[in-house]
Amino acid sequence: MEKTLIILKPDAIQRRLLGKIISRFEEKGLQITGMKMMMIPDSLARAHYVSHKGKDFFEPLVSYTTSSPVVVIVVKGKNAIEIARKMMGVTFGSKAEPGTIRGDYAVSNRFNLIHGSDSPSSAEKEIAAFFTKEEIVDYQPIDLSWVY
Ligand code: TYD
Repeated sequence: MEKTLIILKPDAIQRRLLGKIISRFEEKGLQITGMKMMMIPDSLARAHYVSHKGKDFFEPLVSYTTSSPVVVIVVKGKNAIEIARKMMGVTFGSKAEPGTIRGDYAVSNRFNLIHGSDSPSSAEKEIAAFFTKEEIVDYQPIDLSWVY
């Protein structure tokens, strides 16, 4: 089973889209194994986006990421990383396909609502950077035969 880090960025909270976006992951059949609201410290935002350091959009990206709370989620499932990336759509909202999260709700390059890890190695690093081990709650499906 794979785990991936999802960040619902400041615009997802400010635009009251948290519920809609989280529902998509639940409805897809993926499992939420960790979730919390937090302010991303400046140092963590810089480390998270270090691959873009020096680019003209880096400082505005850090400011946006730290501007208001985010919701960070660990999503688990077979091929969760690739599935989440497909569900998000491509980076720029204006280019993202309808039916994807960015395609349905974003038009901006920067304000694109959501982050998802792009590989198993970055997922492992990112989950460790945002969550303690105790904050990730692995659980098994329980008997739901009492739901009629
Ligand atoms: P990137 O890791 O390339 O995309 P993704 O979020 O789809 O994995 O870029 C990180 C974030 O940087 C992206 O979500 C939005 C922002 N960004 C810009 O603001 N301008 C740009 O030209 C690019 C490439 C990214």
